[in-house]
Amino acid sequence: MTPRSVPEPVASPGFDRRAFLLRSAGTLAVSALMGPPRDLSRLLQGRERELRLHANENPLGPAPSVLSAMRDAVQLANRYGAREALVEPETLEAQIASREGVEPSQVVLMHGSTEVLTTAAAAWGAGGVSSLAPSYPTLLAYAGRLGHRLSFVRPSTGVSLELDALRADPATPRASLVYLCNPDNPTGRVHHADAVVALQASLAASAVLVVDEAYFEYAEGTAGYRSMVELVRAGRRVVVARTFSKFHGLAGMRLGYAIAPTDLARTLRARHAGPPNVVGVVGARVALDDRGFANTVRRDVSDARTAFRTEMEAARLPVSMGPTNFAMVRLGERLGVVNAALRQESIRVWSEPWPGWMRMSFGTAEETARAAAVIRRAVAG
Ligand SMILES: Cc1ncc(COP(=O)(O)O)c(C=O)c1O
Repeated sequence: MTPRSVPEPVASPGFDRRAFLLRSAGTLAVSALMGPPRDLSRLLQGRERELRLHANENPLGPAPSVLSAMRDAVQLANRYGAREALVEPETLEAQIASREGVEPSQVVLMHGSTEVLTTAAAAWGAGGVSSLAPSYPTLLAYAGRLGHRLSFVRPSTGVSLELDALRADPATPRASLVYLCNPDNPTGRVHHADAVVALQASLAASAVLVVDEAYFEYAEGTAGYRSMVELVRAGRRVVVARTFSKFHGLAGMRLGYAIAPTDLARTLRARHAGPPNVVGVVGARVALDDRGFANTVRRDVSDARTAFRTEMEAARLPVSMGPTNFAMVRLGERLGVVNAALRQESIRVWSEPWPGWMRMSFGTAEETARAAAVIRRAVAG
C-alpha cells in the first residue's frame, strides 16, 4: 500500500496536507511491519530452512488433537477466558491439581515457566540465591539483574551433578532461594530424588527451593527420579516450575505453571502478569490427556538418544545425556570448528553452555542424524 491510497482528507483551515501524508505514510509503514504476515507459508519455509536445535523444542509440534482444539479456540480470541466458555484458567489449574494430588489453589498458571522463575527470583531471592553450575540461566540471570547475591557451586570434574557439594557449600544454608533444575539443563541428567529431599531439608527454614521441572515428562519412570511435587504435598517451602513448551510442543503459546504450597502460590499469584492466553489454555487441557502423543514423543526421543550416542561414540566425543530431548557434547578445542560447520548448514545449537561443550536438542530422526553427521565431519576434518 502506498500513501496515495489514503483517502483524501477534507481540507480544513490550517490543514497541512504534507504533514498529514508524512504521518499517514509512517503509520502505514508501521502497520505493515506489525500487521499479520501476508504469507504465513513463507515463515514456515523459513523454519524449514533453519534447523532449530538450540531451544529444546518438540519437533513434532503440538499433538494433532491439540492443534484441532486450538483451531476451534481461536474463535475465542476476543475473550479473556470467560467462565461461560469453559476455558477459564481455573479449570486447567483444577485439572493439573487433580493429576498432581494438590489443591487447585496450589497451582498457578503463568506465561511460560519463565514467568514462574522470574517471579520467584523477585519474590524470594533478595537474601541470596544459590545454585549449581552449569545450570539453566533464566532465574539466576534475572536475580542478578535485580541485584541479588548469587552463589554457584562449580563441578570439580567434567559436568557432574554435585548436589552434595551444593548442600555442603557455606552459602546454601544462608540463601533465601535455592534453584535446582531437575532433569537438569544443560547436562540432560537427573538428580536423585533422595538427594533433592536432603538438600531441601538442609536449607534455612524460611528459604524457598525452586525446582525447575521443565523436562519432567521425559524423566518420569527414570530410576532415582521423582518430581518434587511430593515436597509441596508435604507442605515444604518448594516451588515446582513446569511448562507446556517442551514435551507438549506448545512453546509459542507461552504457558507454564507453578505448583507450590498455598501461601507461596498466593505470593506468585499476587505478582504475576494476569491470566494466560485462552487458545493456549484450551490446547493445554487437551495436551494433558493425549496419551498416544505422549508415547510417540517418548519413543522418538528415546530413539534419538540412542542414535545420537552411537554417532558421538563413533567420533570418540564424550556426551552428557539423560532422559531429556537434548544432549551435551564435549568438543574442547574443536568447539569453534564444529560451531562454524553447524552455522554453515544453518543448524542452530546452544554453542557453549559450559566451556568446551555444546548442547543440541534432538529434532526428528532425520534432523538429528543430519546434525550428528555435520559434527562428525567437522571433528574428522
Ligand atoms: C530448564 C528450563 N526451564 C525453563 C524454561 C523456560 O521455558 P518456558 O518459559 O517456555 O516455559 C526452559 C526453556 O528452555 C528450560 O530449558
